[in-house]
Amino acid sequence: MTEPRHPEPQPTLGGNAGMSSQYLEIRDLRVTFDGFTAVDGVNLTLLQGDLRFLIGPNGAGKTTLVDAVTGLVPATGSVTKSGVELLGSKVHKIARQGVGRTFQTASVFEDLTVLQNLDIAAGAGRSALTLLRRRKSVLPQIEEALETTGLSHLRDRKAGILPHGQKQWLEIGMLLVQDADVLLLDEPVAGMSHEEREETGHLLRRIGAERTVVVVEHDMDFMRAFATSVTVLARGKVIADGSVEEIQADPMVQQVYLGTTAAADVLEEA
Ligand SMILES: Nc1ncnc2c1ncn2[C@@H]1O[C@H](COP(=O)(O)OP(=O)(O)O)[C@@H](O)[C@H]1O
Ligand SMILES: [Mg+2]
Repeated sequence: MTEPRHPEPQPTLGGNAGMSSQYLEIRDLRVTFDGFTAVDGVNLTLLQGDLRFLIGPNGAGKTTLVDAVTGLVPATGSVTKSGVELLGSKVHKIARQGVGRTFQTASVFEDLTVLQNLDIAAGAGRSALTLLRRRKSVLPQIEEALETTGLSHLRDRKAGILPHGQKQWLEIGMLLVQDADVLLLDEPVAGMSHEEREETGHLLRRIGAERTVVVVEHDMDFMRAFATSVTVLARGKVIADGSVEEIQADPMVQQVYLGTTAAADVLEEA
C-alpha cells in the first residue's frame, strides 16, 4: 500500500483522545459508467473529529464518490467503517452502520412538519401508522437535534416552506437522529446567504467533534474558515490532500483550478 503524498492531517477539533479514531477508510475506490471511470482509485482516510472538505472541478467525481460510499452506485475497492466493510452492502444497511449523506437538492418531506421529518428519520423500523400519529412526547434525540440545528422554534412549520438554509439544517438533523457519525454532505451551502453559510459552518463544527464530516464544496472562503483538512479530486483521482494551507500552496491544485471555469469562481471569491 502506497503512502499518501502528504501525511494524514491530525484532526484539530474534537474528541479524538486516543480512541479507535479511524472512522472511514477508503481504498482504491473505483466507479465506472459504461467504460467511463468517474472515480479512479481513490484512497482516503477519515478520522473522528475531521471536518474534511472535498473540493474539485465540476465532474471531478465528488458526488459519485459519495454515492459509492453510501451504496447508491456500484463500486470496486474497499470502504470500511471502523473495520467493517461497507462496499457491496445495501443503502439502508450502510445507513444503519452510521454513514449518512445529504443530496445537492434537499430531500425533506415538504408536506410534513420539521418534527414529523425528524420523527420519520428516527423511526426506521416503526410502523407508518405510529409515525403519522402525532407524538405526545418528543424523543430526546429529536429534541437534541432540534436544538443542535437551531430549528426548535420551527418544529411545527411545514418543511416545504422553510428557506433553503433551514432545509439543509433539517436534513443534517435527520442524519443526527439516525445516529449517523459519518456525515457526507453534498454542497450543503450552495444557494445559502453569507450568514447562513457561517451558521452552517458553526453547526458542522458543533456536530463534527465526535463525528466525521465530509463536505463537498466549491466555496473557498467557506473552506478556509471551517475545514480541518482538504482533499482535492480531479478527473476521479485524489491530486492532493492536506491542510488548507498545503492545498492552497499546491501547484497541481492551482493548475487544475486555473484550467477550469471553477477557477474563475475560486479566484473571484478569494
Ligand atoms: N449515472 C451516471 N452515468 C454516467 N455518467 C455519470 C453518472 N453520474 C455521474 N456521471 C459522470 O461522472 C463524472 C463525475 O460526476 P460527479 O460525480 O457528479 O461530479 P462532481 O460531483 O464532482 O461534479 C461526470 O463526468 C459525470 O458526467
Ligand atoms: Mg456533484
